[in-house]
Amino acid sequence: MKSLTAAMGRMFAGLRFRLLALVLLVCAPLLLLMLHAAGEDRRRAVADWRAQAQNLQLLASRDEDELIGSTRQLLLAISESAYVRSLDPRRCKKGLDDLFASYPRFANLGVLTTNGQVLVCARPSLSEILADRAFVQEAIATRAFTIGSFPSAIGRPTISFGFPVLDHAGKLLAVVFAELDLQYFDRFGTEVPAQLPRGATWTELDRSGVVLARYPGDQSCIGKVFSDAELLGTVFARSEGVLEHVDPHGVRDFYAFASRPSDLAKGRVVSVLSIPRQVLFAEADQVLRTNLEWLALAAGLAFALGWGGGKFLILRPVKALARSSARLARGELSVRTGVPHTHDELGQLTLAFDQMAQALEQRERERERAAHKLQVLSYRLVEVQETERRHIARELHDEIGQSLTVAEMNLQAALRCPATAARQKRLEQSIQAVGRVLEQVHDLSLNLRPSMLDDLGLEPALHWYTHRQAGLTGLRAEFKAARLENRLDPVIETECFRVAQEALTNVVRHSKARAVTVDLSQRNGHLHLRVRDDGIGFDAAALRTRAVQGASLGLLSMEERTALAGGGLEFNTGPGKGTEVHAWFPLKWQAARLSESHND
Ligand SMILES: Nc1ncnc2c1ncn2[C@@H]1O[C@H](COP(=O)(O)OP(=O)(O)OP(=O)(O)O)[C@@H](O)[C@H]1O
Ligand SMILES: [Mg+2]
Repeated sequence: MKSLTAAMGRMFAGLRFRLLALVLLVCAPLLLLMLHAAGEDRRRAVADWRAQAQNLQLLASRDEDELIGSTRQLLLAISESAYVRSLDPRRCKKGLDDLFASYPRFANLGVLTTNGQVLVCARPSLSEILADRAFVQEAIATRAFTIGSFPSAIGRPTISFGFPVLDHAGKLLAVVFAELDLQYFDRFGTEVPAQLPRGATWTELDRSGVVLARYPGDQSCIGKVFSDAELLGTVFARSEGVLEHVDPHGVRDFYAFASRPSDLAKGRVVSVLSIPRQVLFAEADQVLRTNLEWLALAAGLAFALGWGGGKFLILRPVKALARSSARLARGELSVRTGVPHTHDELGQLTLAFDQMAQALEQRERERERAAHKLQVLSYRLVEVQETERRHIARELHDEIGQSLTVAEMNLQAALRCPATAARQKRLEQSIQAVGRVLEQVHDLSLNLRPSMLDDLGLEPALHWYTHRQAGLTGLRAEFKAARLENRLDPVIETECFRVAQEALTNVVRHSKARAVTVDLSQRNGHLHLRVRDDGIGFDAAALRTRAVQGASLGLLSMEERTALAGGGLEFNTGPGKGTEVHAWFPLKWQAARLSESHND
């Protein structure tokens, strides 16, 4: 459980997860924008819906006016016809039948007597009930066009219209009537159904909540009280508006309602345009769905690219860097990230890391080389020191010891010897022996460190040493030196002398040269020493390599000494070309050094 939690924690803290969170963050405003746009679409759909309801209201009102107007015209024409004025039932019947056949919207046409009895009618079966109608009484009383109440309580939903038949003197002769078949009117007489939005229902109610008209669908509810009492209450409480309401069948509908005056209903009529919510918002919801699908697709794609791309573009170099850093920390200096050095920040980072590792590796190699060289030098130094001691011991024993022995024996013999001449000889021999000892001690000390170097300086000491070595070996020697203004720093003097000493020793030991030149000069703030011979020369690179491996010490010690003193060294040589050893040192003067130490 713990490890699972830790793994989850690692995943959520990981770079890739952060990248994906960024993708989601980018998607969030888009999602909000889409939801906002969908909200706007819905608002627009409701507004359009309301405008449509108002148009339909106007259309219904116009239809009603047209219907009443045309019925009035028809009844006027019938009332003025000769057959009606004749009040002859037979003629009336024929005239009405002709008209009835041409006006299918009417359920009946007829003529009533002034006391409300049916004189004649096109559909006799329906005539009995007419006498009770208030519109007949009203037409008789007002002598004007009247409209019956709606709907008739029995039979088919119809509305009756009455018109008085007056003679020229204005005396009431009869009343003509027409019964409008509302169902027929619904089917052919109004444009409202054709203008209805898809899925919507149009209902007209009179002030008592009775359904006057309903398109499309169930006509059985016409003439009955509207079944949704709750909605009815709300609709009658306001003159117009839009509301969302769940109908008795559990369907959530939108209702746009408004009232208008109606002659047919004899008062105000409320028209209600209803539509199921999902139909009204179908278009907006479809746009939202499509947008969400595109967003999900884009987010999924971005997710997949982020997941895969994050692995290759970010995680891989970062992990390679982390791994390489850990190995570098363990001392594996040859480690490299192995990631291509692109121009982006990560590429630059890996490049910097690889360069750092390379520099470290190179430094380590140089350090190892220097350490090895130091080890070889130390070993050789000890060896040389031992050789030197052996040499001094042999000198002391073989030369100085023997000479002193001879001097001792001579002195003892001189003691025992009575004759003055013989003693004289012994003493002279002793003096010679002591003289040789002195000379040997002098040579020994000069080879160790010529006192001339300390007393007179570099130039005289080198001059003397060059000619002494040449004298000992039969070489032709030349010494050239530019005049030095002052004594050099003791370290520079010693190191320069030792380099010259080794170079001359090499000339004597290896070069097979006939002549040697030692040249001491100043240039560009440096002291230059050149020891040139006309000998056999050598392969400097190869012999230096061998020296590093421990074969010899001279070449390396010359390098070390010049480097220690802050200068440098080069060999201009080759097999058969003679040799020039060129060493240079910084020009440091003894006086400056003294004043420096004084200042300190
Ligand atoms: N002037 C020279 N002419 C010809 N060969 C030379 C000269 N100087 C040096 N060499 C060659 O370079 C080799 C290396 O010289 P280096 O001074 O290091 O060693 P070494 O003289 O043999 O021994 P040591 O360690 O005692 O000096 C020599 O053995 C010799 O072969
Ligand atoms: Mg040597």
